[in-house]
Amino acid sequence: MRTILITGGAGFIGSHVVRLFVNKYPEYRIVNLDALTYAGNLENLKDIDTQSNYEFVKGDINDSSFVNTLFSNYQFDGVLHLAAESHVDRSISDPMSFIMTNIVGTVNLLNGARAIWSSNSDGKRFYHISTDEVYGSLGKSGLFHETTSYDPHSPYSASKASSDHLVRAYHDTYKLPIVITNCSNNYGPNQFPEKLIPLAIHNISTNKPIPIYGKGENIRDWLYVEDHAAAIDLVFHKGRDGETYNIGGHNEWTNIDLIKQLCKTMDSKLGRKPGTNEHLITYVKDRAGHDLRYAIDSSKIEKELGWKPSLQFEQGIEKTVDWYLANPDWLENVSSGAYEKYYDKQYNRR
Ligand code: NAD
Ligand code: TYD
Repeated sequence: MRTILITGGAGFIGSHVVRLFVNKYPEYRIVNLDALTYAGNLENLKDIDTQSNYEFVKGDINDSSFVNTLFSNYQFDGVLHLAAESHVDRSISDPMSFIMTNIVGTVNLLNGARAIWSSNSDGKRFYHISTDEVYGSLGKSGLFHETTSYDPHSPYSASKASSDHLVRAYHDTYKLPIVITNCSNNYGPNQFPEKLIPLAIHNISTNKPIPIYGKGENIRDWLYVEDHAAAIDLVFHKGRDGETYNIGGHNEWTNIDLIKQLCKTMDSKLGRKPGTNEHLITYVKDRAGHDLRYAIDSSKIEKELGWKPSLQFEQGIEKTVDWYLANPDWLENVSSGAYEKYYDKQYNRR
């Protein structure tokens, strides 16, 4: 039986990856390590948490002695590292927590893996899940390739870029078996409502203004979260050692067009007159250092591993809206007092 560590498994993408691995690989023992920050929520996993090949460990990757003991006790065969501080706006107001978790936390895990795999690393793998934001911002044309130079602009993307460099350095220096993926913006069920799509769904449902930064002309390449989880499964099992793979949706939208599409979908789902929700769109002060455009060339993972996105955006958005409307308690629970305070601070900043 292989013992696999998944970090950040109570978060948005991590919970989809944990579910996929627990269900698909009964022969693996899946250990989910998560600190349960504001973004971690064990409710995301209540459908699989009693399965015999699943175990949850609450702990902080910033605590090196805890991490070393964990690796020594469990003797992991593989690591999928998703734990991170992940929201750009929070990185602007509180960069240090991003430096600690995304950089120092990643190095603690690398050290833990190195300690137990130094004598024999056959069949072992440290998989670091990263973001396309490390590449910086594109103009109106062009795509991010695996060879694009790093040019991060926010404390979030700079911290992820640092961690990517450190993971590669451990491969080159200590021969740690690693693989990295850089993925575009994800959307889908269980995403915390501070990110654009769930924030807009939440605000439309409750008739609150939908804040659009600047003129809404920034472009993101959106991928349904289960398609990302499927790519992660493929790369973990079939990706080549030391390689980087870009993952993206071939699905570019300006923020304003995306929100208008979402408003339309939700007019019909909520039985509102066409055009009702668009009145909620409110332009607010732009994000500092706001990257104009992200777009991914994912031909390497498509050609080498046969991955491609399975859902059209219209289907993915409909599934996402349906999930949020069917799970008002989930939204209510995560939109607790602490989140309300963050929201007020963030959107009363003008
Ligand atoms: P998320 O914020 O929803 O979840 C992060 C999880 O990490 C939470 O469960 C949190 O409790 C946990 N965590 C945070 N600090 C921790 C610590 N110190 N110790 C242990 N656990 C800790 O994030 P997400 O959107 O699911 O992103 C997961 C990963 O994927 C991140 O590494 C992110 O950079 C990357 N990524 C995200 C996107 C996206 O669009 N969301 C796109 C590409 C890559
Ligand atoms: P976000 O979901 O925070 O992801 P990222 O910054 O990692 O791409 O934001 C997606 C886009 O939406 C980004 O261009 C910023 C913009 N945005 C808004 O216009 N309003 C908002 O309230 C939020 C959270 C984001």
